[in-house]
Amino acid sequence: MNVLVIGSGGREHALVWKLAQSAGVKKVFAAPGNGGTAGETKCENIAVAGDISEEKTQTQLLEFAKQEHIDLTIIGPEAPLAGGIVDRFRAAGLAVIGPDKNAARLETSKAFSKSFMEKYGIRTARGKTFHGHEAALRFVQGYFEDTEFSFQDESETQPEKKPPALVVKADGLAAGKGVIIATDLAEAEAALASFMLDKSLGEAGATVVLEEYIEGTEISILAALSASPGKKPCILPFVSARDHKRRFDGAKGPNTGGMGAIAPVPDFSDIAQKDFMTAILEPTLRGINAEGMDYRGFIFFGLMIRKNRCYLLEYNVRLGDPETQAVLPLLDSDLSELCKAMLDHSLEHYPLLWKSGAVCAPVAVASGYPGAFRKGDPITIDNPALKDSGAKIFFAGTTTAQAVPGHASPSRTAPGKDPAPLITSGGRVLAASAWGADPDEAREKAYRALKAVNFDGMDYRTDIGRE
Ligand code: AMP
Ligand code: GLY
Repeated sequence: MNVLVIGSGGREHALVWKLAQSAGVKKVFAAPGNGGTAGETKCENIAVAGDISEEKTQTQLLEFAKQEHIDLTIIGPEAPLAGGIVDRFRAAGLAVIGPDKNAARLETSKAFSKSFMEKYGIRTARGKTFHGHEAALRFVQGYFEDTEFSFQDESETQPEKKPPALVVKADGLAAGKGVIIATDLAEAEAALASFMLDKSLGEAGATVVLEEYIEGTEISILAALSASPGKKPCILPFVSARDHKRRFDGAKGPNTGGMGAIAPVPDFSDIAQKDFMTAILEPTLRGINAEGMDYRGFIFFGLMIRKNRCYLLEYNVRLGDPETQAVLPLLDSDLSELCKAMLDHSLEHYPLLWKSGAVCAPVAVASGYPGAFRKGDPITIDNPALKDSGAKIFFAGTTTAQAVPGHASPSRTAPGKDPAPLITSGGRVLAASAWGADPDEAREKAYRALKAVNFDGMDYRTDIGRE
């Protein structure tokens, strides 16, 4: 079969790499892909003109998929899902992995996902949604002035005391900039003013969700989901993963898109895993079914674990980045077959197999990231040293000298196995993903691999999987 992967990050490189291992996959197209996908066996990058979240670009991609007889399309990032790409491909009779625009609201609207969680009894932080600044402001003033403040009736599963912070969340997609943890009234007021009055995030911040802060440890669960009206729904969870979001060692510094991941998470206890199934996964499946959603794609549960209890902070309606770069190398099943099972509703019987051991995937970033960062630096790799480490490099913000950004329509650029030199083009440049019999071995190999890679201004955290 021919497969099309939409997106350009490290997640998409990992998808392409895994798909290329499937015996049944003849060719993988990456649109637009990156410098790493261009070099994968069976893979060809497709230049994309315009924004993949927009109708015009999506229509071009659809025409490409029809012309090339694409049998399966996987949508990597959230923006094209929010733009309705799945609806378009499905309407044209194409097999596509991802939720339609309606189901994508589980990620694209925090207000929608919060009300979904509440409606179906999915354990989450207690919160309230506000459409107007004045009412939101009154609420935060009450919250910080009242030491006994409680969102609603205390239930035994919720934290007993008033939490130390209030979380201000912009309703819409905000590329990681939509959540502010306010520890005092001034911070909360500033967040509301920025989102609701100054419109710093455009319409994404016009509505906000205010919720209690939950102290704990974060875990990401990626999963395959198959739900369509009239069919028995199924979610198959993957091994657990942890993304390290802060820029510097010891979880210090600003939030980023993710500085590295480990899978599975060593501290995800059996009790917490069981709790995830009953308190989060099962009611989510019931809700998706009851809402009649047509959702055949990946789903991501962003969890906070507190005293072995799971709280759902967010859904993402796609695979996580960089979690995918740690999780897919552990998958011992055929990814294209898994996708087929999601599409034809046979997921329940799909034998999902995992390798033992662990994978650690620290991310190397460009100087300045997550602020303004350097671009255009050549990446050099000591290939014998990399090979010796046993790690795989998944590229993200990289391009080849030959890539033609803004090409007129989806058309072919560099053919597979492109030996062109790689150049940095994004903040998160690459991840070194290494398997080990245990997390320590995985970490040691991954960091050895990063030593074999170099570009000007290259930096990374040294504690991925340890913190
Ligand atoms: P979200 O986009 O909702 O996952 O929020 C982004 C990040 O903010 C999460 O990964 C957490 O680190 C943090 N966060 C969000 N909601 C809460 C909460 N209720 N309590 C504590 N931290 C939170
Ligand atoms: N790692 C978090 C995300 O993909 O949004």
